[in-house]
Amino acid sequence: MQALRFHEFGKPLEVLRLEELELPSLDDGEVRLKMLAAPVNPADLNLIEGTYGVKPPLPAVPGIEGCGEVVESRSPDFVAGDRAIILRRAGSWASHVQISAEHLFKLPAGMDVQQAAMLKVNPATAWRLLTGFERPAAGSWIVQNAANSAVGRCVIAVAKSLGIRTMNLVRREELRDELLALGADEVLLDDDAAVESAKQREIRPVLGFNCVGGESALRVMNLLAPGATHVTYGAMARRPLTVPNGLLIFKDLKFRGLWITKWIEGAPKEEVREVYGELAKMIVRGELTMPVDRIFPLAEFAGAIEALAAPERNGKVLLAP
Ligand SMILES: NC(=O)c1ccc[n+]([C@@H]2O[C@H](COP(=O)([O-])OP(=O)(O)OC[C@H]3O[C@@H](n4cnc5c(N)ncnc54)[C@H](OP(=O)(O)O)[C@@H]3O)[C@@H](O)[C@H]2O)c1
Repeated sequence: MQALRFHEFGKPLEVLRLEELELPSLDDGEVRLKMLAAPVNPADLNLIEGTYGVKPPLPAVPGIEGCGEVVESRSPDFVAGDRAIILRRAGSWASHVQISAEHLFKLPAGMDVQQAAMLKVNPATAWRLLTGFERPAAGSWIVQNAANSAVGRCVIAVAKSLGIRTMNLVRREELRDELLALGADEVLLDDDAAVESAKQREIRPVLGFNCVGGESALRVMNLLAPGATHVTYGAMARRPLTVPNGLLIFKDLKFRGLWITKWIEGAPKEEVREVYGELAKMIVRGELTMPVDRIFPLAEFAGAIEALAAPERNGKVLLAP
């Protein structure tokens, strides 16, 4: 088998290598997948840099999610030809992955491979953001930054299915029509002037989602209703949150965080499967779609990592072994 591996933490382009590895033998209860597609997520780069929530033992194969086809099974739940996504970090940037069947979610027939490869992380994050804190009543508002991110687009789609309205902050004006077409209710530029003008209106979101930090996180706080909850799940600007005293004293905002890995590993298995079942149905019905920018073979991983940082990128970058 082939896999991208790193032997020390560091800049991805400096430490990642494509290596030939022996396929391990299959234990009882395990399944061998031939990988079909795996995204390059911001978290994968953090994992390689050593700045993610966990540090894997080295050497390690990155890839926190992906979709594969069963080529061999020693589990009664899977047969060759089944397609599944991996619910544990198992090194999806490889031609094959071997894993206990309990960490797989079997895909419904006819599901698009690329969309399936992106199902584990971002759609589930959107679902938990909208349902895992105080669940907003139908008709009420949430506000989020980086609304054109994969998570942001999933938030728009899932919120629409739950009848929740979305106020969306973006860095680029040209995204407005695209997000409105997806079902966004409001799209604003993520700057002080746009946020000040939005505050003049009567919209008061009860939940705010932040994956940027710094000034953008503060703008989300400023838009929230008194008593609302502000949830941080990412740090794209790599700047800390600064909370003005007044927002705590006069608005009594609550500050929370979300790490989807913790939910997947800690929630009851039936609940996790039920949520992925619902999200998979939304994808099959075309209600939830994540755009794909480009697809690279494993050997061209350097191009994939460079494409992730390209300003013109429009969607996820995938590796397709
Ligand atoms: N906590 C969790 O469990 C969890 C789960 C999923 C994702 N995440 C995190 O959520 C974030 C988004 O993930 P994703 O996969 O949806 O990302 P993505 O599709 O790659 O989108 C990245 C987004 O970040 C914006 N961005 C990039 N650099 C920025 C900066 N310096 N300042 C402000 N905005 C910036 C981009 O805006 P432009 O398009 O304008 O460049 C884009 O909207 C990441 O931080 C990721 O680690 C966390």
